[in-house]
Amino acid sequence: MDLLDLLLHEHAEIRTWALAPRPWPVQQFEEFNWFVVQCHATQLEDEVLFPLLRSRMAGRDEFLRSLSRIAADHRLLATLAGNTIKYGREGADVYPRRIDDYFKLLQFHNDSEEEMIFTAWNELPAADREDASARAADSARRCASSGPYLRYSGLAERTLGYLGQ
Ligand SMILES: [Fe+2]
Ligand SMILES: [Fe+2]
Repeated sequence: MDLLDLLLHEHAEIRTWALAPRPWPVQQFEEFNWFVVQCHATQLEDEVLFPLLRSRMAGRDEFLRSLSRIAADHRLLATLAGNTIKYGREGADVYPRRIDDYFKLLQFHNDSEEEMIFTAWNELPAADREDASARAADSARRCASSGPYLRYSGLAERTLGYLGQ
């Protein structure tokens, strides 16, 4: 399973979580957001895939503009999640609506990545794809050992052994 397989798998899993009845207990939302923002967006996309695409797609201005715009969604999501958690802890009336807003933004963002960014994966040299996949596998294993990554990613412990291969 290479980095693109893992990202697409996690997007599919996020689509399924979005269908789970809401509002969620705050702790569940916090854990899910940790999986989305820390493990998926930060450690796989911001730290591995996006820098690689920026360096290899130099000169592809339209692509790079889309990448910057889409990458900026990660900060927006993190801010929205922070506010949502705060409202949830306070028991505020807006908590359920903020969760809905979070899922709408997340789904729009993931669809944009699949339509405009992930499509460049197969243009990368094989050595780059292998290196990125190995680094992503290390990150995913670190997430699995430090929090409820397996629960939210839907991966089994044994599947971690296939990552990066
Ligand atoms: Fe993302
Ligand atoms: Fe993503």
